[in-house]
Amino acid sequence: MSKITIIGSGPGGYVAAIRAAQLKNEVILIEKDELGGTCLNRGCIPTKSFIQSANAYRDAMQSSIFGVKTTGVSLDFPAVVKRKEKIVKRLVSGVQFLMKKNIVKVVTGVGTIIDPKTVKINISNENIKSDQIIIATGSFPSSLAVEGIDSGDVINSNQALEMQRLPASLAVIGGGVIGIEIAQLMQRMGVTVTVLEIMQLILPGEDQDLATMLEAVLKADGVEIYTGAKVLKIKANGTNKKIVFSTGEANKEITVEKVLVAVGRSPETRDLGLEKLGIEMNNKFISVNEKMQTSIPGIYAIGDVVGGIMLAHVASHEGRCAVENASGIGHGMDYRAVPRCIYTSPEIGCVGLTKSQAIEKYGSDVAVGMFPLAGNGKAMIIDGTGMVKIIAEKKHNEVLGIEIIAPHATELIAEGVLAMCMEATFEDLALAIHAHPTLSEAIMEAALNVKGQAVHV
Ligand code: NAI
Repeated sequence: MSKITIIGSGPGGYVAAIRAAQLKNEVILIEKDELGGTCLNRGCIPTKSFIQSANAYRDAMQSSIFGVKTTGVSLDFPAVVKRKEKIVKRLVSGVQFLMKKNIVKVVTGVGTIIDPKTVKINISNENIKSDQIIIATGSFPSSLAVEGIDSGDVINSNQALEMQRLPASLAVIGGGVIGIEIAQLMQRMGVTVTVLEIMQLILPGEDQDLATMLEAVLKADGVEIYTGAKVLKIKANGTNKKIVFSTGEANKEITVEKVLVAVGRSPETRDLGLEKLGIEMNNKFISVNEKMQTSIPGIYAIGDVVGGIMLAHVASHEGRCAVENASGIGHGMDYRAVPRCIYTSPEIGCVGLTKSQAIEKYGSDVAVGMFPLAGNGKAMIIDGTGMVKIIAEKKHNEVLGIEIIAPHATELIAEGVLAMCMEATFEDLALAIHAHPTLSEAIMEAALNVKGQAVHV
């Protein structure tokens, strides 16, 4: 048993704390804000709560598709905010309860690492001594070096999720995961939304076919999207903001009430005292090996602060990995089967390599099976569109990646994650009996289609 201090209580830090307690360590968790970090307070949870409300509103307005007539449907945004706050509060107190249950000592304040065995707390001036330290301080929204960015009406995702009133119009700079999720939910709540993405397609990290399909849905919903758009300046225009941007041709301008900047997130390393410690960095991120060890023995780092795949569930697994290594159960992180989920309508759920990444690695030894949801009965019943793609290598038929754009794709992808964890072949997926009528049959059909054997095409 050793004493472990964890700095940061997001899904990386608090999961690490519980695992450390399970392994009979004495655990101290330092947090300057509410327990739960970005995910619970300013990220995943509040966004998905807003998305649920936006979709419920839309479903009510479009219920005639299902033969249900509704009148007088309206959105009560204060009630939407209240519901979100209730969910966040409940989950934060859930984490508080878990800390108590696991006898984790929670210390409030900013922690600075003085030496590899000591963390100083700003509020109390207390020096906490421990055998190991885990840095789990997460990330914050990146800004943009553009004239006019420092205005109260130019907000980041934290502030977008704190809004008490919907703006009439919103420009979203950055068509990545955060930008697109918020753009769609705002549009569905009645805000006029414009997205400005610097690359040629939204969601530049994901498969182009999926991004193109989602872009078409967003445009059909009424979201205006400019790709290849470089923002040049933002200036006041009465109570509104005028954004000047270029798409390679003549400069364009749009006028909106609020501007959301969603161009990525930066690691939270301020106040940690890393420079003095001389810890090895990888650009702005803390360098770690596969066991989540930093260059300083006894100090580990996990989650967004180490870069890589900056997702809550990755942080939690890195937290377990760090604690287990700190407790002498040595193993490395395996990032082969990390689900990547986007909570739009339709949702996107991916795991493993995209087709182009697979071709880069395996050349012509790559086979792809695709199945459009147009051939799936359940999709028709729920009025869903989308597709499933299975990417496999031809030598052993092993699944290399699965891409789903569909209603509930973020749930459906779990089958793909398990398949990849178990090194399944596409034949395994095709042979597994899938219930009818379900969307999951599309995964089986895509697997069958690697060899052109899908039934309902
Ligand atoms: P991102 O890296 O996903 O997207 C940023 C986007 O901004 C990119 O498309 C990029 O090309 C664009 N961009 C950069 N500079 C620009 C400029 N000057 N003008 C216009 N566009 C510009 O970052 P995002 O969306 O801020 O998300 C941050 C992190 O949070 C990501 O790691 C993401 O995976 C994670 N996240 C995950 C969610 C999920 O799993 N559903 C939800 C929200 C965030």
